[in-house]
Amino acid sequence: MDQKEIKQLVARRAVDTLVHSDMKLGLGTGSTAIPAVHYIGELMQQGKLKNIMVVPTSFQTMIACEQWGIPLYTLNSKEIGGELDLTIDGADEVDPRNYCTKGGGGALLVEKIVAYASREYAIVVDESKVVEQLGMKFPIPIEVIPEARIPVQRALESLGAEVTLREAVRKAGPVITEHANLLLDIRFSAPIDPAEMENRINQIPGVVENGLFTRKRPQVFIGRSDGTVITRT
Ligand code: A5P
Repeated sequence: MDQKEIKQLVARRAVDTLVHSDMKLGLGTGSTAIPAVHYIGELMQQGKLKNIMVVPTSFQTMIACEQWGIPLYTLNSKEIGGELDLTIDGADEVDPRNYCTKGGGGALLVEKIVAYASREYAIVVDESKVVEQLGMKFPIPIEVIPEARIPVQRALESLGAEVTLREAVRKAGPVITEHANLLLDIRFSAPIDPAEMENRINQIPGVVENGLFTRKRPQVFIGRSDGTVITRT
């Protein structure tokens, strides 16, 4: 199986395992989460899923839901009341404790708000995302208020990180997030304590959120090239 097929397989498996009618769902962003959105749309169109309410995590997710006519809400909607039954999302890396890093697609802020407001949380990845230590290979994004870019960079460097401002593609200058902030991508050359680092980074003035997800331990669905999916709880 190629990577695209693996992503579809694992997304569908998570939906088949966890999604049923009458659910309030958070739906994630990226090339593994979007097939889950399409599959939910298909099942709703076939009448196999009914009364699904979705809170999207990005414009990408919102547009995919709109294409299928999936009813969209925010966490603040009266019908949602700030709490979701389940969120399904992708990840950039997953460690042996099911701690994750996210935000490769720049949507970490709403992804974290939605994940932490969900009773159940599921991550869908292909096996290339499974690592021993987070943040050493794939960078961890930090969403930063533009005015605080350099002070935050200095503070991150003092925590041992190598810091890069994320540059846009097909736009001159940096990536501007969906909440008008900048992204600093950081890497560590030595292992970190992800739970401690998630808290420490968020104490730096000017940091809006970081891409370490340690407080909501997900069920992780891992798609493999032999066509199997393993589930880690
Ligand atoms: C979006 O900001 C991210 O958190 C994605 O969920 C993550 O980058 C995984 O994306 P892919 O499934 O496209 O690798």
